[in-house]
Amino acid sequence: MGLELNVAAISLLLILLTSTTINAQTKVFDVRNYGAKPNIDITKAVTQAWKDACAYPGSSKVVVPRTIYRVGTVNFLGPCKGPIEFNVLGSIHSPGDPKYFKGDCWIGFEHVDHLTVLGTGNFDGQGGTAWGRSGCSKNSYCIHLPISLRFDFVTNSIVQDITSYNSKQFHINVFGCQNLTFDHVIIKAPKNSPNTDGIHIGRSTKINVINSNISTGDDCISLSDGSRDILIQGVNCGPGHGISIGSLGKYQNEQPVSGVQVIGCTLTNTQTGVRIKTWLDLYLGSASNIHFENIIMRNVDTPILIDQGYCPWNQCKSQNPSKIKISKVTFKNIRGTSRTKDAIQIICSKALPCQNVELRGIDLRYNGIDRGSTTSLCVNVC
Ligand SMILES: *[C@@H]1O[C@H](CO)[C@@H](O)[C@H](O)[C@H]1NC(C)=O
Ligand SMILES: *[C@@H]1O[C@H](CO)[C@@H](O)[C@H](O)[C@H]1NC(C)=O
Repeated sequence: MGLELNVAAISLLLILLTSTTINAQTKVFDVRNYGAKPNIDITKAVTQAWKDACAYPGSSKVVVPRTIYRVGTVNFLGPCKGPIEFNVLGSIHSPGDPKYFKGDCWIGFEHVDHLTVLGTGNFDGQGGTAWGRSGCSKNSYCIHLPISLRFDFVTNSIVQDITSYNSKQFHINVFGCQNLTFDHVIIKAPKNSPNTDGIHIGRSTKINVINSNISTGDDCISLSDGSRDILIQGVNCGPGHGISIGSLGKYQNEQPVSGVQVIGCTLTNTQTGVRIKTWLDLYLGSASNIHFENIIMRNVDTPILIDQGYCPWNQCKSQNPSKIKISKVTFKNIRGTSRTKDAIQIICSKALPCQNVELRGIDLRYNGIDRGSTTSLCVNVC
């Protein structure tokens, strides 16, 4: 009798479960139903598809099918009524000429909770036409050029499988986000493309970048102030400038950087490997609990670098030491080859020496003709 009752109860439960699954079916908003056609500008179509999907009270999905579409500046705004997916199967091309952009963003996602950006498609920033422009050289930051993908105040979300090609400025910018994961993301731009950071994170908590391949002209991943609880794991970087914390201390009221783990990454032919850089003089701040572990370096110019004397293009009015406090940093099991003899450089602030910097299991060989050992330089570390 008891058993039969249980069977009945289980059947009822199954019926309930099945019906909830049906109710929870995702509603699809295909851009083709909004007039999107290959090779033409679909900015209006994709914006309207997003608006409808976002207003749908349940799971929704905007689909960009497998073909080439052109899209101008768009800002996908939340909050939405339910979880929302942006499914990219095709190739989304940006306008080439930067004059078509009003702000500093090509495609933005803003104030969205439970967003999934997913698909084997790509976002092509068409950066080639912008990189060579005057005013975009080494000593003048390309801030006026659009970032390909911006995530602002996005929470509990995933970006997976997509590719970003040839951004005009940063490929991806993360600001004010919480619990956002980038998984199996591919980022590609030429080695000499200026300011094309792969993923730049600031003022955000619990951001994961995992299983991703980044080759670009600037930092593969850069973390600015207010980056907290960051995991970078299984990332292949190169060419590029490496995985970088900073630069910090350039602006007033910067928030601390704390809780960064960089684990199981490979850097190939990059300028630096893993680094923390802070500006000379200027403003107060801190970076603590930073952990680099199981990293392979292949022909990296400077594999391990803490540089508290950062001052590119002699922009500093004074040579006063940096006011950023660096503490609890570990470099553990870092192996491979260095393109220069000075493989390890820990140059801390005279005013605020680095505290608790630990190097363990470091095996870096000079990649020059003699394949000899490398040197390390440590200043102001206690
Ligand atoms: C973080 O986001 C993921 C993806 O949406 C979600 O599955 C998970 O529950 C979130 N974690 C927390 C603590 O909210
Ligand atoms: C990254 O590159 C590695 C090595 O070439 C490859 O095995 C892996 O599948 C790539 N990952 C992605 C997300 O493309």
